Amino acid sequence: MAIKITGTGSALPEKIVTNFDMAELVETSDEWIRERTGIAERRISTGDTVSSLAAKACMEALAMAKRDAADVDLILVATCSPELLLPCCACQVQSAIGAHQAVAFDLNAACSGFLFALNTAYAYLQTGLYKNALIVGSEVLSKLIDWTDRSTCVLFGDGAGAAFIELSKTDEICENGRAAGLEEMVMGSDGAKGMVLACAERSVSNPYYKETEQIKPYVCMDGQEVYKFATRQVPACIKEALEKANLTVDDVDLFVLHQANVRIIESVAKRLKADLSKFPMNLDHIGNMSSATIPVLLDELNRNGKIKKGDRLVLSGFGAGLTYGASILVWGA
Ligand code: ACO
Repeated sequence: MAIKITGTGSALPEKIVTNFDMAELVETSDEWIRERTGIAERRISTGDTVSSLAAKACMEALAMAKRDAADVDLILVATCSPELLLPCCACQVQSAIGAHQAVAFDLNAACSGFLFALNTAYAYLQTGLYKNALIVGSEVLSKLIDWTDRSTCVLFGDGAGAAFIELSKTDEICENGRAAGLEEMVMGSDGAKGMVLACAERSVSNPYYKETEQIKPYVCMDGQEVYKFATRQVPACIKEALEKANLTVDDVDLFVLHQANVRIIESVAKRLKADLSKFPMNLDHIGNMSSATIPVLLDELNRNGKIKKGDRLVLSGFGAGLTYGASILVWGA
């Protein structure tokens, strides 16, 4: 039994905010942002919501897979910025696209969210409980950002990406001899370091108790700690996944990493001793969209013909939690 991605989709807000626009809001410059992060511009919502972006991305993924919304068994939305706490975004998406048969729920693993959702769906499909799933990463981070804090507001953008995955009973052997499908996965969490990247919800407040100390209700980040975590943990978990699959870095055609920062990606490539050309990047024009970065990049690569049948991809996410993971798959769609 193989589990394959048969459709991808994405949705971005229309509004483009450049580094020059950011320099009108806070004391920063295009040069500083580009040098430290690789970001030149990002998309910012002017009314798009996590569910509306997610629904658009899902419809694109279904169209590519030539499937109807009524065929969908499971919808998993990874998000840390839903517009509603209740109901969950996946239920909003289910209703918006008309996937009435689907079981739908959200999952929050921040920037690792899409990867964790993919692996969760994989586990459901492996048991035979469901035959297919829509996996989505969708964020409107612009509402969680303190737009006066130059150290964070320049980093993030809004958007959504989706993938439709299906269980196929017969193995598909590609021309290069590789069997299509998800081959291996590694996931990890380190809650003890969670506060290096945090954002608070409403604090406890009721007739019997009022929280006095409040965490700032905006994204707070110790950038250097996040940098250290990512550059150490990402290569380690990719190596672990490759070892589990009896593969080496040379067996991988593309490393589709969470798009947080070009310097993190360069450092991961160096530590893995892999050619940087195998690390596609799109953060220059869309910034860091947390759970949406991996599926949006995957969709860009897929639609631009940059992924061929039989290519082996490593998807790797890392982010708040702290969470991290890597999955290996051979493209068969
Ligand atoms: N423009 C100009 N100056 C700035 C800006 C800005 N946008 N932001 C911070 N600075 C200043 C600081 O105030 C500081 O000034 P000071 O020396 O006078 O105090 C100086 O630049 C250096 O600040 P640092 O925070 O030490 O900057 P650093 O070199 O660490 O770069 C960065 C910050 C890019 C965030 C870096 O720490 C990094 O790459 N971290 C990785 C974390 C990351 O990418 N997070 C993304 C989100 S998390 C995720 O997706 C997993």
